[in-house]
Amino acid sequence: MTARTPVSSCLTALCLGLATTALPMAAAAADLTVGFSQIGSESGWRAAETTVSKVEAEKRGITLKIADAQQKQENQIKAIRAFVAQGVDAIFLAPVVSTGWETVLAEAKEAEIPVVLLDRDIDPSGKDLYLTAVTSDSVHEGKVAGEWLVKTVAGKPCNVVELQGTVGASVATNRKKGFEDGIAGHANVTIVRSQTGEFTRAKGKEVMESFIKAEGGGKSICAVYAHNDDMMVGAIQAMKEAGLKPGSEVLTVSIDAVPDIFKAMAAGEANATVELTPNMAGPAFDAIVAFKEKGTVPPKWIQTESKLYTAADDPMKVYESKKDLGY
Ligand code: AHR
Repeated sequence: MTARTPVSSCLTALCLGLATTALPMAAAAADLTVGFSQIGSESGWRAAETTVSKVEAEKRGITLKIADAQQKQENQIKAIRAFVAQGVDAIFLAPVVSTGWETVLAEAKEAEIPVVLLDRDIDPSGKDLYLTAVTSDSVHEGKVAGEWLVKTVAGKPCNVVELQGTVGASVATNRKKGFEDGIAGHANVTIVRSQTGEFTRAKGKEVMESFIKAEGGGKSICAVYAHNDDMMVGAIQAMKEAGLKPGSEVLTVSIDAVPDIFKAMAAGEANATVELTPNMAGPAFDAIVAFKEKGTVPPKWIQTESKLYTAADDPMKVYESKKDLGY
């Protein structure tokens, strides 16, 4: 870990009135220790993000300490406090929910430890408490999904059931809003049921079973929108067990682009997914290294891409290219 000393030049974050306080002496990437408060392992995407973070740290010779919060904000707060006590050089935080971070992030700021948010946001009131956020535009992801559905049903009536992510997570709120934006003005497409499936396969299946029951066996369901692919994989299973045909009778659109959704697409049981890269840590490490070495203040938001994939994209080829990446 590196010693931190204030620099006097006015090209620093401090002079610019930004999130962090003092800047460090130049530090080689290999000297850096980063603490990562990870949410848990609720989805294939999350598992891949953890794997990729380790790989990206190793590439740069950075020591990465990962704390698994098992979906609990209180565990994330404890982990951040432990990282502060250890004097790590930077903290990565994938915030399980968007509120309740002010106190602990103020403690990290007080200790002059820059914080980088990975894959989810916190409320705008906390903006001064972190250096940068590496995330996708999750409103856009939902919008892409909604627009795909509008285009695909081409004016036909379509009752949609929605599987939401973790309640209170920025990505769940945003993906819901984005989808609603995407279908706005198309009265033929209506969300008839919406409930959290907590981003897990098991819960996605369970909630889909209850949707099918509530919709008289599911025949009135035209499409399923899931905030992640894992919930969709669970929902596909539920539909098959109920005698429905996902991918043909019931359209599916979800987010993440994990290998299993491409397998389902190749089997004709899924229709579309919006990709979320699991490589959030790479750009985050680069930002931290530049900040530590040269005092370069990164943009407040480092945005990752969101690409739509459908059955037209040779799903088996995409599956092959992704299957060994830690999902
Ligand atoms: O924050 C990103 C989301 O968290 C992913 O889309 C989901 O799979 C994960 O659990």
